[in-house]
Amino acid sequence: MTATIIDGKAFAARIRAQVAEAVEKLATDHRLIPGLAVVLVGEDPASEVYVRSKGKQTVEVGMRSFEHKLAAETPEDELLALIDRLNSDDAVHGILVQLPLPGHVNAEKVINRIDPAKDVDGFHILNVGRLGTGQKAMVPCTPLGCLMMLRDHLGSLSGLEAVVVGRSNIVGKPMAQLLLGESCTVTVAHSRTRDLPEVCRRADILVAAVGRPDMIRGDWIKPGATVIDVGINRVARDGKTRLVGDVDFSSAVEVAGAITPVPGGVGPMTIACLLANTLTAACRARGLPEPQGLTV
Ligand code: GUN
Repeated sequence: MTATIIDGKAFAARIRAQVAEAVEKLATDHRLIPGLAVVLVGEDPASEVYVRSKGKQTVEVGMRSFEHKLAAETPEDELLALIDRLNSDDAVHGILVQLPLPGHVNAEKVINRIDPAKDVDGFHILNVGRLGTGQKAMVPCTPLGCLMMLRDHLGSLSGLEAVVVGRSNIVGKPMAQLLLGESCTVTVAHSRTRDLPEVCRRADILVAAVGRPDMIRGDWIKPGATVIDVGINRVARDGKTRLVGDVDFSSAVEVAGAITPVPGGVGPMTIACLLANTLTAACRARGLPEPQGLTV
């Protein structure tokens, strides 16, 4: 039997439709239009693609998009001054600074300058601490998208064994916190983990976020497990560039109960969750009820 394919593209479209409906209602009932500011420093081609895509989807759901493109050599204090202006701008409910930042800029300092209430990436130290202590936080978009797909597919996650492969601040660590919040038994594995295949084999839920193409193979997976592949790796194959995940899809699909494909799995969910977070931030800023089903 082969695994159910979890269609992240379709799921993300449903989230965007829900966000668009809520945005329309905010405009008519409260004259409120959520606004998202995206800051890009430098000309990293992959970042430019993401930023363009974010701007387009923001406008498509009826929100305002503010793009700030700064030269790669922009001094840190100029970037901090821009954050200060966005923090005090009432039309801006969400602020995202695209990472990575150029080497001369202290990324931690920049992220922690963002008003935590507008930190739609959930990277500010206050949001990290809130998530870790079970308080209401802005939750990082990629792990939030993964959790939404897991809940949709499995219902309650309580008591399940979850293994997260990868310990990044953007995905692995917040993913582990979210799964703990769902009462999973959580293991965070990484490059120094001894016998990684054996650790993976105990997972009912396996989240792969390591950035190594096709690393996790079918025989590392417990039969029937739910596999979420966060990897987006560009590889040259048969003379073409292809996108592959961290999971070797062709062998994993024969063992898993359900699996997200790459592309079309986690990827589209990230921006959908960014829009959901911006909507949530706008509602909180006005003291309005938060949209149901779009936050944890
Ligand atoms: N670069 C890669 N992923 C992300 C993300 O989720 N947020 C930001 N700000 N930058 C990124």
